[in-house]
Amino acid sequence: SRTRRGYRSAMTRISFSLSATDGRARTGTIATPRGEIRTPAFMPVGTAATVKAMLPESVRETGADILLGNTYHLMLRPTAERIERRGGLHRFMNWERPILTDSGGFQVMSLSGLRKMSEQGVTFKSHVDGSLHELTPERSMEIQRMLGSDIVMCFDECTPFPAEEGVSLESMRMSMRWAQRSKEAFGDRPGHALFGIQQGSVFRGQREESAEALRKIGFDGYAVGGLAVGEGQEAMFDVLDYAPDMLPEDKPRYLMGVGKPDDIVGAVKRGIDMMDCVLPSRSGRTGQAFTRNGVVNIKNARHQDDPRPLDENCDCPACRNYSRAYLHHVFRAQEMISGMLLTWHNLRYYQDLMEGLRGAIAVGQFDAFEADFHTARAEGDI
Ligand code: GUN
Ligand code: ZN
Repeated sequence: SRTRRGYRSAMTRISFSLSATDGRARTGTIATPRGEIRTPAFMPVGTAATVKAMLPESVRETGADILLGNTYHLMLRPTAERIERRGGLHRFMNWERPILTDSGGFQVMSLSGLRKMSEQGVTFKSHVDGSLHELTPERSMEIQRMLGSDIVMCFDECTPFPAEEGVSLESMRMSMRWAQRSKEAFGDRPGHALFGIQQGSVFRGQREESAEALRKIGFDGYAVGGLAVGEGQEAMFDVLDYAPDMLPEDKPRYLMGVGKPDDIVGAVKRGIDMMDCVLPSRSGRTGQAFTRNGVVNIKNARHQDDPRPLDENCDCPACRNYSRAYLHHVFRAQEMISGMLLTWHNLRYYQDLMEGLRGAIAVGQFDAFEADFHTARAEGDI
């Protein structure tokens, strides 16, 4: 039977509208059949069909409009076929709002065992059980369709850093051929978006050639790939000083795998609309909490008798209901609630930062917001 939502998704195309700009920073909305995505948006990472230590309704309470899922992990376990039989990834993990899925190539290179790359795609050994698999642009599009992803990413190669200019050029050009194949395999799917991914490492001419190739193919959004791979913030910002401007102004721009709070502020300043990173969720499980005044290491003994909340300015359950002394205790005792509370706090901190950025851009106060952000971190006593 055709649900209301299913009917709408068959009728509605994903659209992006900007409501304000301030310098190169932008704020707006991506409208999808599964709900709106307020930009600049931070996407929590739900690699294995869960944002670790969080219920989906709690992730929503932090303010997230969209999650990121991973082709690579889900194809290996529980498999895309199994998720499709259960009605798709949204129903499977009980998250009804938009999901963006990464295409798999990046995770193959960072996680799998033996792998072999060719023009066709990449064959690799699973990090789960050592079994052999193949990912191609066509197979990645098929898996992301079976998952029911709302925003599908092209299959690409994330060029490692550092790369020699000639090596990066060949890698980028292969990713652009794969982008063409991704587009053809994706087809026409109203209600679902396909994003291209710019490569070209730290080489301006290559970033321009890549952007031109993607614009010519035509996508619903454009990602800046191949950054946050060890080049450091200064080199990343150097690329972001020109790369986003090479991509269409009227489509969302997504910086993949970024980042720390100050990376996010700097990326938004340079025209980025979407980001994702494991940092808030992973750090939550290793005892690191992000606050307005900087990072708090909750395992530090100086918190063991501290009655204060983690962050006085935070409205999350960890900060409303518990002392630093308690959070320190449950971390040291390796209690599960430690990862739950710190993850909630970190995701709330990130979404609060995004709300602040969006609000500042809307009223033309980005520079003042950025100055406050850096001052609080420099002067904060944590
Ligand atoms: N995640 C972080 N960087 C990248 C990239 O360049 N490509 C893809 N597909 N995913 C990423
Ligand atoms: Zn909090």
